[in-house]
Amino acid sequence: MALQQPEPAMQMSRRAVLAAGAAASIAAPAAAAADPAVLARDEGYWAKVGGLFDAPPPGVIQLENGMFGAMTRAVRVAYEQKVDRINRETTLYLRGPVNADVQAVRAKAARLLGVDPDEIAWTRGGTESMLTLIGGYNRLKPGDAVLYADLDYDSMQAGIRSLAKVRGVRVVKIDLPEPVSRDSLIAAYDAALTANPDVRLMLLTHLSHRTGLIPPVKEITALARSRGVDVLLDCGHALGQTEFALRDLGVDFAGLNLHKWIGSPLGVGLVYIRKDRIPDIDVSILEGPSPRIDARIHTGTVNYAAVLAVADAIDAHEAIGLANKAHRLRYLRDRWAEAVRGVPGVEVLTPNDPALHAGITSFRLAGRTSPADNIALKKALFDRYRIFTVERLGVARGACVRVSPSFVNDAAQMDKLAAAIRELAKA
Ligand SMILES: Cc1ncc(COP(=O)(O)O)c(C=O)c1O
Repeated sequence: MALQQPEPAMQMSRRAVLAAGAAASIAAPAAAAADPAVLARDEGYWAKVGGLFDAPPPGVIQLENGMFGAMTRAVRVAYEQKVDRINRETTLYLRGPVNADVQAVRAKAARLLGVDPDEIAWTRGGTESMLTLIGGYNRLKPGDAVLYADLDYDSMQAGIRSLAKVRGVRVVKIDLPEPVSRDSLIAAYDAALTANPDVRLMLLTHLSHRTGLIPPVKEITALARSRGVDVLLDCGHALGQTEFALRDLGVDFAGLNLHKWIGSPLGVGLVYIRKDRIPDIDVSILEGPSPRIDARIHTGTVNYAAVLAVADAIDAHEAIGLANKAHRLRYLRDRWAEAVRGVPGVEVLTPNDPALHAGITSFRLAGRTSPADNIALKKALFDRYRIFTVERLGVARGACVRVSPSFVNDAAQMDKLAAAIRELAKA
């Protein structure tokens, strides 16, 4: 794909040009930039990538890109064309050819994940995916226990807690360590499973929406498996932000969305169940017995245009390249987070270990741990510096402010954030 391959001789495929929209006008960066770690610092290149998107409102440094990620203009146009077609042809399309088109997109999404198409089903987002798994997991017996951690997503925590009533299980909550390291994370899960040998199911979040922490998923999943514990992996923030393959992680169940870091229209997600584990998730109450994953989630009539536009979003994502995006995000994160780590009064909540974070990282000012403190901190960043972030609550050791750059933010913006944090820490 041309955006990854700066050599002029390496031409963009026609599909990639279409996917990238204005990509044809993107001049190849210096040949040396073929290395994603080098390309990550090439502001000229990323400014051109930024040109593929609608310009954000001026005067604001947008560092809250975690809630959802914008589509490129080309994806938006493709999406609108699909809306147009559905609106024009209505049931002539929806009662016929749309099914083959949706299956083709599903096959493409499966290729993106490195799994088989019959191991994934469409949902309307990460929440619906995970709640399908949590509510449908049918191997629990009354008296078993289930486990979750403070950094897991609120709706999934609530789903796990609901199992007490629904399945008659005991619910165990753990608080993850802070400061944190790879070994201390593995030790925390190990200790929890040792202290609670009745745990049979646990929630694990690949990339925390609260702090940005990426736990060692593969090791923790292996640890759980060795104790007969199944893992439901929440990849709500991981897909498209950081490099991973579900098969390598050894997980059997995962929830994902495509509207955060793949850049699809809002309202599209996927649930993954390894083929031989599909029977362990109940069919929807609306379905009869079925071996198929689709019977586990019954969404009714969905936004077909959004589902179909996933194909265009994957093209655009691949034209930029996952490795390039991931390196760029880590570079932007390091630029502010490592600049303020060690500044008196500033706590950076992911460690300086590229395996344990992607682009997102949260921070707090020492001793200011209440929700109100962090709402005020977010407000000060916006009112005084026009930097837009979001407060995150629910971290056991205190609330914080989350910074989630997009790969089209720039280094100068991250430097402004670091300077603002230094000033606020002094106040
Ligand atoms: C870790 C994590 N999982 C799941 C979700 C929910 O995803 P969705 O908004 O697609 O339902 C989010 C949303 O922020 C998230 O951060």
